[in-house]
Amino acid sequence: MNEKKQQVSRRQFLNYTLTGVGGFMAAGVLVPMLRFAVDPVLQPSSKGDFVNVGLAVEDITSEPQRIEWQVVQEDAWNKSEVTKVAWVFRNDDGEIIAHSPICKHLGCFVTWEGSEDYPNEYFCPCHDGRYYKDGTNVPNTPPMAPLDEYEQRIENGMLYLGDPKPRGEA
Ligand code: FES
Repeated sequence: MNEKKQQVSRRQFLNYTLTGVGGFMAAGVLVPMLRFAVDPVLQPSSKGDFVNVGLAVEDITSEPQRIEWQVVQEDAWNKSEVTKVAWVFRNDDGEIIAHSPICKHLGCFVTWEGSEDYPNEYFCPCHDGRYYKDGTNVPNTPPMAPLDEYEQRIENGMLYLGDPKPRGEA
């Protein structure tokens, strides 16, 4: 009788031990997986931040100039450094304009005076897309909307740019 009790208690001991070790091992696998899945959701988004693009306001002229700056972009678990581009100038009213170079047709890069045939315009080489200096798409060319404009802010005499915003269809 005593021996039977002892056998049962051994079995129980084994059950408890295996359950405990199994649970510990499962937690060791599941906790990192859970953290991996949830972590990006908890990270603050860098979207909407204004970045010093390294251009002094006093250096902005009426001629659009191409500027580049780097930002860290996060896509889910991927962090990568990407180069952003803008065309910056002062319009006739002295306002600072920062155009996105992304063509509104199919997303190629536009260039200020990119074609000798169309001076004083932005030109997209992919399908001969054209835009006036104020970013408005030239009628009867492929783009159906004006170039996006970056949100902007000036601090300590330097230009800060945020996200590009659509201006609506022309
Ligand atoms: S992508 Fe610019 S005109 Fe087509």
